[in-house]
Amino acid sequence: MLQQRPSTILTLLFFAVALLLAACGSVANSVATPTPSLSAEAAQGQALFQGKGRCATCHALSPETIIVGPSLAGIATHAASRVAGLSAAEYLEASILFPDSYIVPGFENQQMPTTLAKELSVPEVEALVAYMLTLD
Ligand code: HEC
Repeated sequence: MLQQRPSTILTLLFFAVALLLAACGSVANSVATPTPSLSAEAAQGQALFQGKGRCATCHALSPETIIVGPSLAGIATHAASRVAGLSAAEYLEASILFPDSYIVPGFENQQMPTTLAKELSVPEVEALVAYMLTLD
């Protein structure tokens, strides 16, 4: 269903993002200005990112390095222009919760795990977003 109609996907996406933001406040925006040392939330996100079998298994942080997924070097900057109408934080959140909704050019769908929305709590997703917003 998610892959059939772009308008449906967008509607679902906006609805879900709006729900999330309403539920927990605009958390990710509060870390828009990266600091040399990570905030507690971003540090939690970094730990999750590097956890066994998690994001770092597929995503390198050095530029141009492809493990399975794209390098996330500079993702805080790229994320802002990936999908029109989505802020960097909204795009990053959607990348975790709805990986099918946007596929990075040059990569295939279905490689990024689609079960993260069930596996991760809302604070965990927010922490991952906070961490990725420091990768600029
Ligand atoms: C099994 C490998 C795999 C794992 C594990 C994985 N990803 Fe991905 N990810 C991918 C692939 C492949 C893509 C590119 C295809 C796509 O857009 O869905 C991607 C795309 C992304 C993007 C979009 C990048 C861009 O340049 O726009 C983000 C952000 C992302 N992943 C974050 C995460 C986070 C955070 C985790 C851990 C919670 C994670 N990924 C776990 C494979 C993976």
